[in-house]
Amino acid sequence: MIRTEFLAKQPTLKTARTQLVPMGPRFGPQLWRSLQNHDTDKLTGTHGTFTEDQVRKHLENLPGRSDRADWAIIRNDDSSYLGEVVLNDLDADNESMNYRISLRGLDVAGQGYGTEAGEAVINFGLGLVGLHRISLGVYAFNERAIRSYTKLGFETEGVLRHALHWDGQWYDQILMAKLAPGALDDDPPTTTDPAATTDPGAEGVH
Ligand SMILES: CC(C)(COP(=O)(O)OP(=O)(O)OC[C@H]1O[C@@H](n2cnc3c(N)ncnc32)[C@H](O)[C@@H]1OP(=O)(O)O)[C@@H](O)C(=O)NCCC(=O)NCCS
Repeated sequence: MIRTEFLAKQPTLKTARTQLVPMGPRFGPQLWRSLQNHDTDKLTGTHGTFTEDQVRKHLENLPGRSDRADWAIIRNDDSSYLGEVVLNDLDADNESMNYRISLRGLDVAGQGYGTEAGEAVINFGLGLVGLHRISLGVYAFNERAIRSYTKLGFETEGVLRHALHWDGQWYDQILMAKLAPGALDDDPPTTTDPAATTDPGAEGVH
């Protein structure tokens, strides 16, 4: 049985240099600004554009959801918004979710923030929530993301050929997943304590 109450009452997660704060309307201006930066569009396969009203409604709809968990990544040093990280597409019967992350732009990529945030979210999902499996899709050209996910313990499961059509070219998407520690016979449990990285009472982010 998974513990969806931890999705509905999402804690703030702490990492060495960031706080992952439950996403909601207060982050509207930051999310809207990041959507105006198009240098990550191809990396995330974002063809469409969003209106401010769509973004506002999306954010209003997030708090209290027991089928997903979205966080804003906030840097401790200057309280700046670095991007968003998400567990979504809950399949409760099969104890699995999808993982998605996008930093606000390439100005903050390659500095370990995404990998750091990912570790806390994966520990939360496989630990506190009790998921058996977390999966993701990543385009084959996104070497930085593939490297980051591999460091987090995701393994390649397959390829969706020609899953992205961008500027007249076709690109493959790689499917990756990470299973809970001990899920396979040859995969001994680790001693990760998910509670060590959570702080439900953390506040003070602007
Ligand atoms: C993908 C993403 C989450 C990775 O987080 P990050 O904090 O930038 O990643 P890191 O800095 O930890 O880098 C991960 C690895 O990639 C390597 N790397 C960094 N820049 C790279 C580049 N341009 N090309 C290839 N590898 C690169 C790093 O050296 C590191 O490997 P190492 O630890 O062995 O040295 C983040 O870059 C991001 O959000 N990018 C924009 C949107 C995106 O691609 N989202 C994912 C869609 S699936």
